Amino acid sequence: MTDVLSHFLNPRNVGDADEPSFTGRSASLACGAHARLSIQIDERHRVSQARFRAAGCDVLVASASLLTERIAGLTTADAASLAQEPETLVGVIQHREHCPGLACDALLDAIREYSNAARDDWSGDEALICTCFFVSERTIEQTIQTQGLTTVREVTSACNAGGGCGSCHQLIQEILDTHDLP
Ligand code: FES
Repeated sequence: MTDVLSHFLNPRNVGDADEPSFTGRSASLACGAHARLSIQIDERHRVSQARFRAAGCDVLVASASLLTERIAGLTTADAASLAQEPETLVGVIQHREHCPGLACDALLDAIREYSNAARDDWSGDEALICTCFFVSERTIEQTIQTQGLTTVREVTSACNAGGGCGSCHQLIQEILDTHDLP
């Protein structure tokens, strides 16, 4: 049985994540389908629980089900980058390309809600490098130093900086370059 059929007939993680959770929604004007995805995030910015509800076709249900399985344990940054490649979820199914995208849009919306909550909670006075996830310059420097990181991707995986809009990548690279100097 294909992954799509298996996840459609027996969808995993249906429902709502336990509180406190962050919820995202998406809808298609073209076909009327909609999806809701909720996530719970632990203190290391990792997805500790993901649940979905969807009203739509088999591909949408299977995509959302697969997505909730794949993001379990990922940092929100890694989950966001997965959501930016919806075609990797179920492969390309002709005329149904937008269905996996709907599931991914709901996830990105939930991560955005998490990011907004982190911003509201921010009370520090340190210089921020990543305003999407409120990661300060000092945190990035310490993370690079203690973990011996050499790439932006490694920094994103370690502390979430760079996992949203990407506009801080150049700044993170500059910090990495400074640490590379003899
Ligand atoms: S500012 Fe860092 S990802 Fe958006």
